[in-house]
Amino acid sequence: MAAATPMSPWGSGTPDIVVGPLDLAARVDEALVVQAHAFGLSQDEIDVRRHIVLRHLDDPGARSFGAVAADGRLVGFVYGLPNSRTHWWSTVVEPYLRVTGSEDWLDGSFVITELHVHPEFQQRGIGRSLITTITDTADLPRSILSAIDTDSPARGLYRALGYQDLARQVLFPSAPKPYAVMGAPLPLRRRG
Ligand SMILES: CC(C)(COP(=O)(O)OP(=O)(O)OC[C@H]1O[C@@H](n2cnc3c(N)ncnc32)[C@H](O)[C@@H]1OP(=O)(O)O)[C@@H](O)C(=O)NCCC(=O)NCCS
Repeated sequence: MAAATPMSPWGSGTPDIVVGPLDLAARVDEALVVQAHAFGLSQDEIDVRRHIVLRHLDDPGARSFGAVAADGRLVGFVYGLPNSRTHWWSTVVEPYLRVTGSEDWLDGSFVITELHVHPEFQQRGIGRSLITTITDTADLPRSILSAIDTDSPARGLYRALGYQDLARQVLFPSAPKPYAVMGAPLPLRRRG
């Protein structure tokens, strides 16, 4: 398992942050609080996500990393798992990738399922550290993910790391906004 990486200090008065392996099943409620602040989730959505996260963690390839402040507070997390064409996410995106000729990205790819940093701690390199750390341990040649299809900080981060659009305007059942599916070769591109 990867060792924790100290990331510090970010500035006077800001606690040090450590990025390392996270027992997400044990800290799922804290993680969902982070996600609720970062992404915006209602209590009903939190309850649904809780079940989904715990089910994903049953996958033997699932892994998760967290960013923890000096006081022990979880301020960011990422988790993902190797793609399987039988997974719900994969079955939704597959027809869109077929249209763009990028369906082969569904094989040998590590899926980033969630990546969130609490707003108070954003733009300090934590998101970049989380996603590069998890993909470095993935032992697969590439990574795929979906992000709301808009010009967001998440899309900016993914592009900076080498992710490119594989499909746009992807509609997930019950999601109000369309998503973009993005893929990148591993290891992810480093700054500079
Ligand atoms: C996306 C997210 C995880 C990024 O976390 P972060 O810790 O703020 O990101 P970092 O500080 O590591 O930024 C790394 C890179 O992302 C890009 N980025 C970050 N914030 C950005 C912003 N506001 N605008 C444009 N690009 C941005 C930049 O390329 C940045 O590199 P740089 O610092 O060299 O310019 C965070 O913004 C977040 O939690 N957003 C809400 C939830 C979300 O959208 N999650 C993703 C779901 S798909």
